This record gives sequence, structure tokens and C-alpha cells, in this order.
Amino acid sequence: MSDLSGKVAIVTGAGRGLGREEAMQLASQGARVVINDINLPDAEEAAQQTVEEIKAAGGEAIAVFGDCANSEDSDKLFKTALDTYGDINIMVNNAGFCRDKTIFGMSDDEFDSVVRVHLRGHFVNMRNATKYWREKAKGGDPVYGRLVSTSSEAAIYGSAGQPNYASAKAGIVAMTMGAAQLMIKYGITCNVIMPRARTAMTDAGQTAAMFAAPEDGFDVFNPENVAPLVGYLASPEAGHISGEVMIVWGGEITVLQRPTLGQSFNSSNGGKWQLDDMHNKMSEYFDENHMPVWGGFSVPPG
Ligand SMILES: NC(=O)c1ccc[n+]([C@@H]2O[C@H](COP(=O)([O-])OP(=O)(O)OC[C@H]3O[C@@H](n4cnc5c(N)ncnc54)[C@H](O)[C@@H]3O)[C@@H](O)[C@H]2O)c1
Repeated sequence: MSDLSGKVAIVTGAGRGLGREEAMQLASQGARVVINDINLPDAEEAAQQTVEEIKAAGGEAIAVFGDCANSEDSDKLFKTALDTYGDINIMVNNAGFCRDKTIFGMSDDEFDSVVRVHLRGHFVNMRNATKYWREKAKGGDPVYGRLVSTSSEAAIYGSAGQPNYASAKAGIVAMTMGAAQLMIKYGITCNVIMPRARTAMTDAGQTAAMFAAPEDGFDVFNPENVAPLVGYLASPEAGHISGEVMIVWGGEITVLQRPTLGQSFNSSNGGKWQLDDMHNKMSEYFDENHMPVWGGFSVPPG
């Protein structure tokens, strides 16, 4: 079931946290895994450790260090994967970091760096993966492609302390949906996960208590609980699942519904709105349907 023997996977940010668990999961299903993490000493050491653990369990893996959002580093990542294993079949975009601040307290750099690592980080590797698969398919070769993006519930609910992160994560959903529309004709799937887990990203500050391990019983927020979904979406059995967004944590997976339209209003004159007409209709509706500010979390999700 879900055999990935002979398949080649790239996972960004796979030295630690969720990426590490996802890489181990893919390797346990038989994939040869290219472990990417940033070229900083502690991250390189962590990535190398993931490689060693995969090998110790009888799997195959190599590490390629570099910035997931840098085009040249992404090119190097893909070239090394192809030179070493001869193909690329599974692209898991996962790497990232947070710089949490409220909108009124955030610097340009805090905004740019987080949008860059998540949104551009997905973009450069998604571009390389889809380009490779498309050219292969157009050349008449059989192609097996699975793309998994990593968003967050912050993208749908907003996150008061993470305007940079929530925006990037919303962009990732939109980008992946577009890729799914383009790639379905080649039999390639593109899906998004929104995980919750205890990692370096969440095991600090406000979220630490929410994600803490229990004294006993099922450790709901153990990051290894997220990895099976990535393994499944990467598998042949999931070939008909594309353009989906799934929240995943513990023993639960929730598929997001497509956005649906709410109440519509039409101007009384059938043309351009007059403000008093608009006010009459809007106030009638919102007086009866007054909602608190839309949002699901009192503490920001990771
Ligand atoms: N943990 C959660 O509850 C949660 C919730 C929603 C979304 N996510 C998302 O899951 C993904 C993984 O996060 P995590 O919780 O495992 O965090 P983490 O901090 O444990 O792991 C992130 C990894 O990405 C690497 N990384 C950072 N910048 C990089 C770069 N420029 N190039 C390559 N690697 C880089 C880090 O070195 C680290 O190994 C992220 O995209 C995160 O936003 C996590």
C-alpha cells in the first residue's frame, strides 16, 4: 500500500520539525529522499542527521544545503537530485520560519523575509518541479508527479500576530490551486496541507502550552502524526486527489470545502449603487447577521 519504491522525493526544511518527519515517512514507503535545509551549521547538522536516520532504517537519502527561496539554490537542489537519483517525482515544500508581530509593529524586513521564505520558497521549487514534469510529459515520457505545499490555518482565519505569515500562507494556497489546474492534464497532483504540530515554530511563546505533550496517552501534536498524509498524497493511490486543502493533526484530517458565496445584494435601480440604497440593504442584513470579527483562534496557529 502506498509503495514509493523507485520514486525520488525532495523535502525542503527537512532537517527538523515536520519536514524531517515527512522525509522519514516518504523514505519508509521506499522513496529516495533529497533532504534540503538552509546552509547554516545547525541546520546542516540536523539535515545530515535526518539522512543518517533514513539510512540506518535501510532507506536512501542525501542532503543538499541551500536557501529554499533562492532560485540558484533550487536549481542546484534539482540538479543534484537528478544527477544522484535520475528523476524527481515528489516535491514537498515545507521550509520556513516566523517573525511574529502585529501589523502596526512590523518592520519591512520582518514582512519581506517571512513572505520570501514561505511564498517565494514555494514558488521557486514549484516552478522547477512543474517545469521538469511538463517537459518530460511533452517529450512523451511517462511522468509521475506529486506536489505537496505547506500552508496554515492562519491563511483562512487570519492571525493577529502574524500578518506576514498569514499572507504568505494564503498565497501558497492560491499558487498551488493554479498549479493543480495546469498540471492535472499530465496526471500530476498538487495539494496543500495545513498542519498543527509541536516543533521549534510552535514550542515557544503563546502556542507552547497549546501544543505541549501530554503526560500519557496519544501525543496529538507530535509532528510525526502529520507525516502519513504527505506519504499518502505522494502515493499512486492518491492520483485522483488534486487541488485539495487539508487540515491535519493528531488522528484527524479535515478537507476544506471550496469557498461558497454568501448573501448577494443588487442595487434597486439595476445600475450603479446609490449609497443610501446600499446602506438600507446592508444595514438590514448586517443588523440581523452581526458577527464578531472573523477569525478562529485566540492564539495564532503556527
Ligand atoms: N508546526 C505547526 O503547528 C505548523 C502549523 C502550520 C504550518 N506549519 C508549517 O509547517 C512547515 C514546517 O514548520 P515546522 O513547524 O516544522 O518548523 P521548524 O522550525 O521545526 O522547521 C522548519 C525547517 O525549515 C528550515 N528552514 C528555514 N528557513 C529555510 C530556508 N530559507 N531554506 C531551507 N530551509 C529553511 C529550518 O532550518 C527548519 O529545519 C512551515 O512551512 C510552517 O509554516 C507548521
